[in-house]
Amino acid sequence: MVAGNPTARQSRRALLRFLLGSPLFLAARPVRALEDLLAAAAECAPGLADAVEVIASPADAINVFDFRAAAEERLSPAHWAFLATGVDHEVGLRANRAGFARFGLRPRRLVDVRDLDTRTEILGTKLACPIALAPAGGQRAFHPQGEVAVARAAKARDHLMILSTGSHQPLHDVVEARGAPIWFQLYTPGAWPITRWQLRRAEEAGCPVVVLTVDLPGFGSQDRLRRFRGPGNPFRSRDDPACYACHGSTRRVAQGLRLMTSLGLDPLELASDAFTLDWDYVDRIRDATSMKLVLKGILTHEDARLCVEHGVDGLVVSNHGARQMDNALSTVEVLPGIVRAVDGRIPILIDGGFRRGTDFFTALALGASAVCVGRPYLWGLSAFGQEGVEAVLALLRTELETVMRHMGTRDRTSITAAHVQALAPGLLPIP
Ligand SMILES: Cc1cc2nc3c(=O)[nH]c(=O)nc-3n(C[C@H](O)[C@H](O)[C@H](O)COP(=O)(O)O)c2cc1C
Repeated sequence: MVAGNPTARQSRRALLRFLLGSPLFLAARPVRALEDLLAAAAECAPGLADAVEVIASPADAINVFDFRAAAEERLSPAHWAFLATGVDHEVGLRANRAGFARFGLRPRRLVDVRDLDTRTEILGTKLACPIALAPAGGQRAFHPQGEVAVARAAKARDHLMILSTGSHQPLHDVVEARGAPIWFQLYTPGAWPITRWQLRRAEEAGCPVVVLTVDLPGFGSQDRLRRFRGPGNPFRSRDDPACYACHGSTRRVAQGLRLMTSLGLDPLELASDAFTLDWDYVDRIRDATSMKLVLKGILTHEDARLCVEHGVDGLVVSNHGARQMDNALSTVEVLPGIVRAVDGRIPILIDGGFRRGTDFFTALALGASAVCVGRPYLWGLSAFGQEGVEAVLALLRTELETVMRHMGTRDRTSITAAHVQALAPGLLPIP
Protein backbone atom coordinates (compact mmCIF):
# COMPACT_ATOMS: atom_id res chain seq x y z
CA MET A 1 0.00 0.00 0.00
CA VAL A 2 1.26 3.42 -0.81
CA ALA A 3 0.70 6.14 1.74
CA GLY A 4 1.08 9.72 0.68
CA ASN A 5 -0.48 12.89 -0.39
CA PRO A 6 -3.46 12.01 -2.63
CA THR A 7 -3.04 15.16 -4.70
CA ALA A 8 0.58 14.30 -5.45
CA ARG A 9 -0.45 10.75 -6.30
CA GLN A 10 -3.13 12.03 -8.64
CA SER A 11 -0.73 14.35 -10.45
CA ARG A 12 1.78 11.50 -10.80
CA ARG A 13 -0.99 9.32 -12.18
CA ALA A 14 -2.10 12.04 -14.61
CA LEU A 15 1.47 12.51 -15.86
CA LEU A 16 1.99 8.78 -16.28
CA ARG A 17 -1.35 8.42 -18.04
CA PHE A 18 -0.34 11.14 -20.47
CA LEU A 19 3.12 9.66 -21.10
CA LEU A 20 1.95 6.06 -21.39
CA GLY A 21 -0.77 7.10 -23.80
CA SER A 22 1.67 8.86 -26.13
CA PRO A 23 3.07 6.63 -28.95
CA LEU A 24 5.69 9.26 -29.79
CA PHE A 25 6.98 9.22 -26.26
CA LEU A 26 7.04 5.44 -26.08
CA ALA A 27 8.82 5.13 -29.41
CA ALA A 28 11.50 7.61 -28.34
CA ARG A 29 12.26 6.03 -24.95
CA PRO A 30 15.02 3.50 -24.56
CA VAL A 31 13.78 0.20 -23.09
CA ARG A 32 15.45 0.70 -19.71
CA ALA A 33 13.74 4.07 -19.19
CA LEU A 34 10.42 2.53 -20.15
CA GLU A 35 10.92 -0.15 -17.54
CA ASP A 36 11.59 2.56 -14.96
CA LEU A 37 8.45 4.33 -16.03
CA LEU A 38 6.33 1.21 -15.69
CA ALA A 39 7.85 0.57 -12.27
CA ALA A 40 6.91 4.10 -11.24
CA ALA A 41 3.39 3.56 -12.55
CA ALA A 42 3.15 0.37 -10.54
CA GLU A 43 4.21 2.26 -7.44
CA CYS A 44 1.48 4.86 -7.91
CA ALA A 45 -1.21 2.32 -8.61
CA PRO A 46 0.05 -1.15 -7.76
CA GLY A 47 -1.14 -3.71 -10.30
CA LEU A 48 -1.84 -3.09 -13.96
CA ALA A 49 -5.58 -3.67 -13.38
CA ASP A 50 -5.76 -0.63 -11.10
CA ALA A 51 -7.58 2.55 -12.03
CA VAL A 52 -5.74 5.63 -13.16
CA GLU A 53 -8.63 7.86 -12.02
CA VAL A 54 -10.08 7.93 -8.53
CA ILE A 55 -13.67 6.70 -8.85
CA ALA A 56 -16.48 9.18 -8.17
CA SER A 57 -19.21 6.63 -7.53
CA PRO A 58 -19.37 2.98 -6.38
CA ALA A 59 -20.79 2.02 -9.77
CA ASP A 60 -17.52 3.08 -11.42
CA ALA A 61 -15.48 0.49 -9.55
CA ILE A 62 -13.94 -2.31 -11.59
CA ASN A 63 -12.37 -4.05 -8.61
CA VAL A 64 -12.10 -3.45 -4.86
CA PHE A 65 -8.75 -1.68 -5.19
CA ASP A 66 -10.65 1.21 -6.77
CA PHE A 67 -12.20 1.83 -3.36
CA ARG A 68 -8.76 1.98 -1.78
CA ALA A 69 -7.75 5.02 -3.82
CA ALA A 70 -11.15 6.66 -3.19
CA ALA A 71 -10.84 6.03 0.55
CA GLU A 72 -7.35 7.46 0.67
CA GLU A 73 -8.56 10.56 -1.08
CA ARG A 74 -11.47 11.11 1.31
CA LEU A 75 -9.95 10.29 4.67
CA SER A 76 -7.69 12.50 6.72
CA PRO A 77 -4.05 11.31 6.53
CA ALA A 78 -4.21 10.02 10.13
CA HIS A 79 -7.42 8.05 9.58
CA TRP A 80 -6.07 6.69 6.31
CA ALA A 81 -2.93 5.56 8.13
CA PHE A 82 -5.08 3.88 10.82
CA LEU A 83 -6.86 1.94 8.09
CA ALA A 84 -3.97 1.10 5.83
CA THR A 85 -1.10 0.54 8.19
CA GLY A 86 0.76 -2.66 8.95
CA VAL A 87 3.59 -2.83 11.47
CA ASP A 88 7.31 -2.12 11.29
CA HIS A 89 8.33 -2.23 7.63
CA GLU A 90 5.04 -3.87 6.62
CA VAL A 91 6.61 -7.06 5.31
CA GLY A 92 3.64 -9.05 6.63
CA LEU A 93 1.19 -6.74 4.90
CA ARG A 94 2.81 -7.48 1.54
CA ALA A 95 3.24 -11.17 2.45
CA ASN A 96 -0.51 -11.58 2.95
CA ARG A 97 -1.01 -10.67 -0.71
CA ALA A 98 2.11 -12.40 -2.01
CA GLY A 99 1.04 -15.68 -0.38
CA PHE A 100 -1.63 -16.24 -3.02
CA ALA A 101 1.06 -16.53 -5.68
CA ARG A 102 2.16 -19.72 -3.92
CA PHE A 103 -0.96 -21.50 -5.16
CA GLY A 104 -2.33 -22.19 -8.61
CA LEU A 105 -5.87 -23.24 -9.47
CA ARG A 106 -6.81 -26.41 -11.39
CA PRO A 107 -10.06 -25.78 -13.27
CA ARG A 108 -12.32 -28.66 -14.35
CA ARG A 109 -14.12 -28.21 -17.68
CA LEU A 110 -17.51 -29.05 -19.11
CA VAL A 111 -19.49 -28.86 -15.91
CA ASP A 112 -22.96 -27.30 -16.09
CA VAL A 113 -22.56 -24.29 -13.79
CA ARG A 114 -25.75 -22.38 -14.55
CA ASP A 115 -27.23 -22.84 -11.08
CA LEU A 116 -24.55 -21.68 -8.72
CA ASP A 117 -25.08 -22.01 -4.98
CA THR A 118 -22.73 -20.14 -2.62
CA ARG A 119 -24.66 -20.94 0.56
CA THR A 120 -22.99 -22.52 3.53
CA GLU A 121 -23.56 -22.94 7.27
CA ILE A 122 -21.04 -22.40 10.06
CA LEU A 123 -21.76 -23.10 13.73
CA GLY A 124 -25.49 -22.89 13.12
CA THR A 125 -25.25 -19.57 11.25
CA LYS A 126 -26.54 -19.74 7.70
CA LEU A 127 -24.41 -17.78 5.22
CA ALA A 128 -25.63 -16.84 1.75
CA CYS A 129 -21.98 -16.62 0.72
CA PRO A 130 -18.77 -17.70 2.49
CA ILE A 131 -17.43 -14.12 2.56
CA ALA A 132 -17.81 -12.45 5.98
CA LEU A 133 -17.01 -9.03 7.38
CA ALA A 134 -14.02 -9.15 9.73
CA PRO A 135 -14.26 -7.21 12.99
CA ALA A 136 -12.72 -3.75 12.84
CA GLY A 137 -12.83 -1.24 15.65
CA GLY A 138 -13.53 2.46 15.45
CA GLN A 139 -15.44 2.71 12.18
CA ARG A 140 -16.65 6.24 12.72
CA ALA A 141 -13.10 7.17 11.81
CA PHE A 142 -14.13 6.15 8.29
CA HIS A 143 -17.73 7.32 8.07
CA PRO A 144 -20.14 9.11 10.45
CA GLN A 145 -22.50 6.10 10.46
CA GLY A 146 -19.65 3.66 11.06
CA GLU A 147 -20.70 0.14 12.05
CA VAL A 148 -24.41 0.85 11.50
CA ALA A 149 -23.77 1.62 7.83
CA VAL A 150 -21.77 -1.59 7.54
CA ALA A 151 -24.55 -3.59 9.22
CA ARG A 152 -27.11 -2.15 6.79
CA ALA A 153 -24.88 -3.15 3.88
CA ALA A 154 -24.39 -6.63 5.35
CA LYS A 155 -28.17 -6.91 5.57
CA ALA A 156 -28.74 -5.68 2.02
CA ARG A 157 -26.17 -8.11 0.60
CA ASP A 158 -26.78 -10.86 3.19
CA HIS A 159 -23.30 -11.36 4.63
CA LEU A 160 -22.19 -12.43 8.10
CA MET A 161 -20.88 -9.52 10.17
CA ILE A 162 -18.48 -9.87 13.09
CA LEU A 163 -18.65 -6.79 15.31
CA SER A 164 -15.57 -5.57 17.15
CA THR A 165 -15.43 -4.90 20.88
CA GLY A 166 -14.00 -1.57 19.72
CA SER A 167 -17.20 -0.68 17.85
CA HIS A 168 -18.01 3.02 17.85
CA GLN A 169 -21.72 2.21 17.69
CA PRO A 170 -23.67 0.41 20.44
CA LEU A 171 -24.01 -3.35 19.99
CA HIS A 172 -27.82 -3.22 20.06
CA ASP A 173 -27.98 -0.57 17.32
CA VAL A 174 -25.74 -2.66 15.09
CA VAL A 175 -27.72 -5.86 15.69
CA GLU A 176 -30.91 -3.97 14.88
CA ALA A 177 -29.42 -2.52 11.69
CA ARG A 178 -28.20 -5.97 10.57
CA GLY A 179 -31.64 -7.46 11.26
CA ALA A 180 -30.10 -10.91 11.90
CA PRO A 181 -27.67 -12.32 14.46
CA ILE A 182 -24.14 -11.03 14.25
CA TRP A 183 -21.03 -12.60 15.79
CA PHE A 184 -19.36 -10.63 18.55
CA GLN A 185 -15.57 -10.21 18.60
CA LEU A 186 -14.16 -10.05 22.10
CA TYR A 187 -11.13 -8.17 23.35
CA THR A 188 -10.92 -8.66 27.04
CA PRO A 189 -8.35 -7.45 29.52
CA GLY A 190 -8.17 -10.80 31.31
CA ALA A 191 -10.14 -9.45 34.29
CA TRP A 192 -13.02 -11.83 34.91
CA PRO A 193 -15.75 -9.37 36.01
CA ILE A 194 -15.27 -7.42 32.78
CA THR A 195 -15.13 -10.55 30.63
CA ARG A 196 -18.31 -11.90 32.23
CA TRP A 197 -20.06 -8.57 31.70
CA GLN A 198 -18.94 -8.51 28.02
CA LEU A 199 -20.20 -12.07 27.47
CA ARG A 200 -23.59 -11.36 29.07
CA ARG A 201 -24.01 -8.26 26.96
CA ALA A 202 -23.34 -10.20 23.74
CA GLU A 203 -25.63 -13.04 24.80
CA GLU A 204 -28.43 -10.60 25.61
CA ALA A 205 -28.00 -8.99 22.19
CA GLY A 206 -28.62 -12.42 20.62
CA CYS A 207 -25.10 -13.09 19.30
CA PRO A 208 -24.75 -16.85 18.71
CA VAL A 209 -20.94 -16.81 18.51
CA VAL A 210 -18.20 -14.99 20.39
CA VAL A 211 -14.90 -14.57 18.55
CA LEU A 212 -12.07 -14.15 21.03
CA THR A 213 -9.10 -12.35 19.49
CA VAL A 214 -5.93 -13.93 20.84
CA ASP A 215 -3.24 -12.22 18.79
CA LEU A 216 -2.93 -9.05 20.80
CA PRO A 217 -0.66 -9.69 23.78
CA GLY A 218 0.92 -6.30 23.13
CA PHE A 219 0.72 -3.62 20.48
CA GLY A 220 3.01 -3.78 17.48
CA SER A 221 4.62 -0.66 16.15
CA GLN A 222 2.31 0.81 13.55
CA ASP A 223 5.07 3.11 12.34
CA ARG A 224 3.05 4.67 9.57
CA LEU A 225 0.26 5.62 11.98
CA ARG A 226 2.66 6.79 14.65
CA ARG A 227 4.14 9.34 12.25
CA PHE A 228 0.92 11.26 12.83
CA ARG A 229 1.48 11.30 16.55
CA GLY A 230 4.19 13.03 18.49
CA PRO A 231 7.45 11.30 19.44
CA GLY A 232 7.03 9.66 22.83
CA ASN A 233 3.39 10.66 23.14
CA PRO A 234 1.05 8.28 21.34
CA PHE A 235 -2.03 10.42 21.99
CA ARG A 236 -0.60 13.79 21.08
CA SER A 237 -2.48 14.18 17.84
CA ARG A 238 -5.77 13.65 19.66
CA ASP A 239 -5.23 16.97 21.35
CA ASP A 240 -5.35 18.64 17.96
CA PRO A 241 -8.73 20.30 17.47
CA ALA A 242 -9.22 18.39 14.20
CA CYS A 243 -8.75 15.03 15.93
CA TYR A 244 -10.60 15.94 19.08
CA ALA A 245 -13.75 16.62 17.03
CA CYS A 246 -13.93 12.90 16.18
CA HIS A 247 -12.32 11.24 19.13
CA GLY A 248 -13.62 13.21 22.09
CA SER A 249 -10.95 11.14 23.83
CA THR A 250 -11.39 12.58 27.31
CA ARG A 251 -15.11 11.83 27.27
CA ARG A 252 -14.59 8.21 26.22
CA VAL A 253 -11.87 7.64 28.80
CA ALA A 254 -14.15 9.10 31.49
CA GLN A 255 -16.97 6.79 30.38
CA GLY A 256 -14.64 3.78 30.60
CA LEU A 257 -13.46 4.73 34.07
CA ARG A 258 -17.07 5.20 35.25
CA LEU A 259 -17.98 1.75 33.90
CA MET A 260 -15.07 0.10 35.72
CA THR A 261 -15.90 1.82 38.98
CA SER A 262 -19.57 0.79 38.67
CA LEU A 263 -18.39 -2.81 38.32
CA GLY A 264 -16.29 -2.44 41.49
CA LEU A 265 -13.01 -2.63 39.54
CA ASP A 266 -9.82 -0.71 40.10
CA PRO A 267 -8.60 0.63 36.72
CA LEU A 268 -4.97 0.54 37.87
CA GLU A 269 -5.19 -3.13 38.84
CA LEU A 270 -6.89 -3.87 35.55
CA ALA A 271 -4.08 -2.29 33.58
CA SER A 272 -1.66 -4.77 35.12
CA ASP A 273 -4.07 -7.64 34.34
CA ALA A 274 -3.95 -6.86 30.62
CA PHE A 275 -2.25 -9.33 28.30
CA THR A 276 -2.60 -12.29 30.67
CA LEU A 277 -4.86 -14.38 28.44
CA ASP A 278 -3.95 -18.06 28.40
CA TRP A 279 -5.60 -21.43 27.70
CA ASP A 280 -7.05 -21.58 31.24
CA TYR A 281 -8.82 -18.33 30.53
CA VAL A 282 -10.14 -19.74 27.24
CA ASP A 283 -11.56 -22.71 29.21
CA ARG A 284 -13.17 -20.31 31.63
CA ILE A 285 -14.84 -18.33 28.85
CA ARG A 286 -15.98 -21.54 27.11
CA ASP A 287 -17.60 -22.79 30.34
CA ALA A 288 -19.21 -19.45 31.18
CA THR A 289 -21.07 -18.71 27.98
CA SER A 290 -23.90 -20.22 25.99
CA MET A 291 -22.38 -18.76 22.82
CA LYS A 292 -20.15 -20.83 20.57
CA LEU A 293 -16.51 -19.87 21.04
CA VAL A 294 -14.17 -19.12 18.12
CA LEU A 295 -10.52 -18.10 18.54
CA LYS A 296 -9.19 -15.49 16.12
CA GLY A 297 -5.49 -15.09 15.41
CA ILE A 298 -4.33 -18.71 15.12
CA LEU A 299 -1.27 -19.15 12.88
CA THR A 300 0.26 -22.50 13.81
CA HIS A 301 -0.86 -26.12 13.64
CA GLU A 302 0.21 -26.48 17.29
CA ASP A 303 -2.30 -23.86 18.45
CA ALA A 304 -4.95 -25.19 16.08
CA ARG A 305 -4.63 -28.59 17.77
CA LEU A 306 -4.93 -26.91 21.18
CA CYS A 307 -8.14 -25.21 20.03
CA VAL A 308 -9.63 -28.64 19.37
CA GLU A 309 -8.31 -30.06 22.65
CA HIS A 310 -9.80 -27.16 24.61
CA GLY A 311 -13.24 -27.64 23.11
CA VAL A 312 -13.17 -24.42 21.12
CA ASP A 313 -15.90 -24.44 18.43
CA GLY A 314 -13.98 -22.83 15.59
CA LEU A 315 -10.90 -20.77 14.72
CA VAL A 316 -9.89 -17.91 12.47
CA VAL A 317 -6.49 -18.16 10.81
CA SER A 318 -5.42 -14.54 11.04
CA ASN A 319 -2.42 -12.31 11.59
CA HIS A 320 -4.72 -9.36 12.34
CA GLY A 321 -4.24 -8.02 8.83
CA ALA A 322 -0.50 -7.81 9.65
CA ARG A 323 -1.30 -4.90 11.97
CA GLN A 324 0.24 -6.24 15.16
CA MET A 325 3.35 -8.23 14.35
CA ASP A 326 5.42 -8.19 11.22
CA ASN A 327 6.15 -11.69 9.97
CA ALA A 328 6.79 -13.13 6.57
CA LEU A 329 4.22 -15.94 6.65
CA SER A 330 0.93 -15.13 5.01
CA THR A 331 -2.27 -16.61 6.39
CA VAL A 332 -3.02 -18.55 3.20
CA GLU A 333 0.41 -20.20 3.41
CA VAL A 334 -0.17 -21.53 6.92
CA LEU A 335 -3.72 -22.63 6.15
CA PRO A 336 -2.89 -26.13 4.76
CA GLY A 337 -0.95 -27.11 7.92
CA ILE A 338 -3.79 -25.93 10.12
CA VAL A 339 -6.39 -27.75 8.05
CA ARG A 340 -4.35 -30.95 8.43
CA ALA A 341 -4.07 -30.49 12.21
CA VAL A 342 -7.77 -29.78 12.69
CA ASP A 343 -8.80 -32.64 10.40
CA GLY A 344 -12.38 -31.46 9.95
CA ARG A 345 -13.19 -31.39 13.68
CA ILE A 346 -14.02 -27.66 13.84
CA PRO A 347 -14.65 -25.05 11.13
CA ILE A 348 -11.76 -22.87 10.04
CA LEU A 349 -12.21 -19.29 8.91
CA ILE A 350 -9.37 -17.18 7.53
CA ASP A 351 -8.55 -13.53 6.81
CA GLY A 352 -5.62 -11.41 5.69
CA GLY A 353 -5.18 -9.88 2.26
CA PHE A 354 -8.23 -11.42 0.54
CA ARG A 355 -9.16 -9.13 -2.34
CA ARG A 356 -10.11 -11.22 -5.41
CA GLY A 357 -12.39 -14.10 -6.30
CA THR A 358 -9.39 -16.37 -6.87
CA ASP A 359 -8.13 -15.60 -3.33
CA PHE A 360 -11.41 -16.73 -1.77
CA PHE A 361 -11.59 -19.79 -3.96
CA THR A 362 -8.02 -20.79 -3.04
CA ALA A 363 -8.77 -20.68 0.69
CA LEU A 364 -12.02 -22.61 0.28
CA ALA A 365 -10.22 -25.24 -1.80
CA LEU A 366 -7.51 -25.50 0.85
CA GLY A 367 -10.17 -26.26 3.46
CA ALA A 368 -11.45 -22.98 4.93
CA SER A 369 -15.18 -22.87 5.67
CA ALA A 370 -15.39 -19.11 5.11
CA VAL A 371 -13.18 -16.10 4.50
CA CYS A 372 -13.34 -12.72 6.24
CA VAL A 373 -12.38 -9.42 4.67
CA GLY A 374 -11.22 -6.36 6.57
CA ARG A 375 -9.80 -3.42 4.70
CA PRO A 376 -11.79 -3.76 1.44
CA TYR A 377 -15.17 -3.08 3.07
CA LEU A 378 -13.60 -0.30 5.14
CA TRP A 379 -12.35 1.28 1.90
CA GLY A 380 -15.93 1.13 0.62
CA LEU A 381 -17.26 2.59 3.86
CA SER A 382 -14.70 5.41 3.84
CA ALA A 383 -15.39 6.35 0.26
CA PHE A 384 -19.17 5.99 -0.03
CA GLY A 385 -20.69 4.82 3.27
CA GLN A 386 -23.23 1.98 3.16
CA GLU A 387 -23.39 2.10 -0.63
CA GLY A 388 -19.62 1.62 -0.84
CA VAL A 389 -19.68 -1.41 1.46
CA GLU A 390 -22.51 -2.92 -0.57
CA ALA A 391 -20.58 -2.38 -3.79
CA VAL A 392 -17.44 -4.00 -2.35
CA LEU A 393 -19.42 -7.03 -1.19
CA ALA A 394 -21.17 -7.31 -4.55
CA LEU A 395 -17.85 -7.18 -6.42
CA LEU A 396 -16.22 -9.78 -4.20
CA ARG A 397 -19.15 -12.13 -4.48
CA THR A 398 -19.43 -11.73 -8.24
CA GLU A 399 -15.72 -12.47 -8.58
CA LEU A 400 -16.02 -15.59 -6.41
CA GLU A 401 -19.00 -16.78 -8.45
CA THR A 402 -17.11 -16.20 -11.70
CA VAL A 403 -14.17 -18.23 -10.44
CA MET A 404 -16.51 -20.99 -9.25
CA ARG A 405 -17.91 -21.20 -12.78
CA HIS A 406 -14.45 -21.30 -14.32
CA MET A 407 -13.40 -23.98 -11.89
CA GLY A 408 -16.45 -26.13 -12.67
CA THR A 409 -17.72 -26.00 -9.09
CA ARG A 410 -21.43 -25.49 -8.51
CA ASP A 411 -21.46 -25.19 -4.74
CA ARG A 412 -19.32 -25.09 -1.63
CA THR A 413 -19.11 -28.84 -1.27
CA SER A 414 -17.81 -29.32 -4.80
CA ILE A 415 -14.79 -27.06 -4.08
CA THR A 416 -12.02 -29.42 -2.96
CA ALA A 417 -8.26 -29.67 -2.47
CA ALA A 418 -8.03 -31.16 -5.97
CA HIS A 419 -8.72 -27.65 -7.32
CA VAL A 420 -5.53 -26.14 -5.95
CA GLN A 421 -1.85 -26.82 -6.44
CA ALA A 422 1.08 -25.48 -4.41
CA LEU A 423 3.71 -23.68 -6.50
CA ALA A 424 7.36 -22.90 -5.96
CA PRO A 425 7.92 -19.73 -3.89
CA GLY A 426 8.27 -16.30 -5.40
CA LEU A 427 7.06 -17.00 -8.93
CA LEU A 428 4.59 -14.21 -9.50
CA PRO A 429 4.22 -10.68 -8.23
CA ILE A 430 0.72 -9.93 -6.98
CA PRO A 431 -0.97 -6.55 -6.36
C1 LIG B 1 -8.89 -0.57 10.85
C2 LIG B 1 -8.87 -1.98 11.36
C3 LIG B 1 -9.33 -2.24 12.65
C4 LIG B 1 -9.32 -3.54 13.13
N1 LIG B 1 -9.85 -3.80 14.37
C5 LIG B 1 -9.92 -5.08 14.81
C6 LIG B 1 -10.58 -5.37 16.03
O1 LIG B 1 -11.13 -4.49 16.69
N2 LIG B 1 -10.62 -6.67 16.43
C7 LIG B 1 -10.03 -7.69 15.71
O2 LIG B 1 -10.08 -8.86 16.11
N3 LIG B 1 -9.42 -7.42 14.52
C8 LIG B 1 -9.36 -6.16 14.06
N4 LIG B 1 -8.80 -5.90 12.84
C9 LIG B 1 -8.28 -7.03 12.03
C10 LIG B 1 -9.39 -7.60 11.14
O3 LIG B 1 -10.37 -8.24 11.89
C11 LIG B 1 -8.82 -8.64 10.16
O4 LIG B 1 -8.12 -9.61 10.87
C12 LIG B 1 -7.92 -8.02 9.09
O5 LIG B 1 -8.31 -6.73 8.74
C13 LIG B 1 -7.93 -8.90 7.85
O6 LIG B 1 -7.02 -8.46 6.91
P1 LIG B 1 -7.39 -7.54 5.65
O7 LIG B 1 -7.64 -6.17 6.22
O8 LIG B 1 -6.15 -7.59 4.84
O9 LIG B 1 -8.59 -8.11 4.98
C14 LIG B 1 -8.81 -4.60 12.34
C15 LIG B 1 -8.36 -4.32 11.04
C16 LIG B 1 -8.40 -3.03 10.55
C17 LIG B 1 -7.93 -2.78 9.15
